[in-house]
Amino acid sequence: MSADISADPATSILRTEDLTIRFGGLTALRQVNFAVERGEIRAIIGPNGAGKSTFFNCLTGILRPSSGRISFNGGDITGLSPDRISQKGVARSYQITNILPNATTLENVRIAAQSRRHGWSLLTRYQGYRDIIEKAEAVLEALGLHSKAGELAANLSHGEQRNLEIGIALATEPQLLCLDEPTAGMSAAETHDTMELVRRIANNLTILIVEHDMQVVMGLAHRITVLHYGEILAEGTPSEIQQNPRVLEVYLKT
Ligand SMILES: Nc1ncnc2c1ncn2[C@@H]1O[C@H](COP(=O)(O)OP(=O)(O)O)[C@@H](O)[C@H]1O
Ligand SMILES: [Mg+2]
Repeated sequence: MSADISADPATSILRTEDLTIRFGGLTALRQVNFAVERGEIRAIIGPNGAGKSTFFNCLTGILRPSSGRISFNGGDITGLSPDRISQKGVARSYQITNILPNATTLENVRIAAQSRRHGWSLLTRYQGYRDIIEKAEAVLEALGLHSKAGELAANLSHGEQRNLEIGIALATEPQLLCLDEPTAGMSAAETHDTMELVRRIANNLTILIVEHDMQVVMGLAHRITVLHYGEILAEGTPSEIQQNPRVLEVYLKT
């Protein structure tokens, strides 16, 4: 058996209790009880429309849940604005790109770093802040994009742009990083590089990752949560999930 980091509610960094969100007649998440340990890499998998992105949208304040509770570091964050939640240390990268194409690679990361320390509203001031530029440069180093610092983001390859997206989230100095399909549209080689990147940055972080590539998921995650029609179908280590008959049924049917 592989080492099992089980999510103890008493020590978990993030918890949801009966998290539910409805869009009109559709219940996209139904009473989701979820907990993740500090330092864990947790994959969230499930068929299209299962509610994975909606779950991230609730955690990061983009969407307000219909009912239930979300706590982070023991404090209630349910219904807080995205800015407040970001300030508390939750970051996400988007499935659809969030990059400023006409800004340089460094600028993209610098603006995000600045948002953490001074709020998104003060974007154009403090351009000379040394600490922010140093932070941004450290993030580019971690991304392997340092040599592209002065390049316009629009000129980066697709894979580099997706990694920059992770950097933008990382620059806000999160404790919890939510990655929504970070390898979507990547070649096998780019996917491999991005997984190495996620492993590198995982040191002082808790990571939630939505990912379709099962090989990637199985190699990266400590534990896996399977969502299906807005409910948790299964949870466990990669080997437990691989052998779970309910999971196999769902994946074989689609
Ligand atoms: N803002 C929204 N308004 C209405 N329906 C939504 C909204 N966001 C998501 N949905 C619906 O909720 C369900 C879950 O979507 P989503 O979370 O994007 O799934 P996944 O990321 O697992 O593919 C889908 O049926 C989707 O159409
Ligand atoms: Mg999605």
